[in-house]
Amino acid sequence: MAKNTIAKLFKQKQSGDKITAITAYDASFSHLFAECGIDLMLVGDSLGMVLQGQDSTVPVSVADIAYHTRAVRNGAKEAFVVADMPFMSYSTPADACQNAAELMRAGANMVKLEGGEWLIETVKALHTRGIPVCAHLGLLPQSVNVIGGYKVQGREQHQADALIKQASQLEQAGAQLLVVECIPNALGKAVSEAVNMPVIGIGAGADTDGQILVMHDMLGLTANYLPKFAKNYLQQSGDVRSAIQTYIEEVKSGRFPDAEHSFG
Ligand code: KIV
Ligand code: NA
Repeated sequence: MAKNTIAKLFKQKQSGDKITAITAYDASFSHLFAECGIDLMLVGDSLGMVLQGQDSTVPVSVADIAYHTRAVRNGAKEAFVVADMPFMSYSTPADACQNAAELMRAGANMVKLEGGEWLIETVKALHTRGIPVCAHLGLLPQSVNVIGGYKVQGREQHQADALIKQASQLEQAGAQLLVVECIPNALGKAVSEAVNMPVIGIGAGADTDGQILVMHDMLGLTANYLPKFAKNYLQQSGDVRSAIQTYIEEVKSGRFPDAEHSFG
């Protein structure tokens, strides 16, 4: 299998070939996802919730993400692996560089961090030192205690405008990928058109350049609450491999997400 690279993801955006992404935390699943042809895997700090049983992503450490990044890389040598920078691991550019380096050494191809303007210097510092950056806008789960819950973001016009501006600023600072979470479909489309970097949505409608789901949500394993935008693919297909294949087909063909799994 050919190596997945950031250059390939940019080509996919240019040609309208939807990017399929999923979270991965271990070697067995990363191997299977790679075999099925997933374009990108994220070692998400969602592991705090789905693996550790925490109430939020806040307690996750750099060591936790590094451990799971190593496992994911061991199972999929050619995969494009993004590792989440956990809560408070990038509060200054210097901290960000040091902690991101640990995740790169663990096998990541890129690191992801949550936030807008305040991250511009951090993104510059990482990018100029050879660490590719994925930005994350919209709902920021690491800020759940500031927001007061997991809610749709960017419904007001001024918020939508601010998100698009932040995406452009982060891109100028060196970000090469963007995840947008829990925003209206129209904003998902607008931000994808406004920047050159590929935009991957989760609860952001079908018009972003790609989609990502938490693997536990898409396999119906999530213990308590299934978000509106998540879809259980195991239910309709009966086995894990076909669930992943169906997810990939539905993203590539634009059938996922539909109105039921997005915010109109
Ligand atoms: O941690 C995670 O799983 C994520 C995705 C929801 C994008 O950040
Ligand atoms: Na995350």
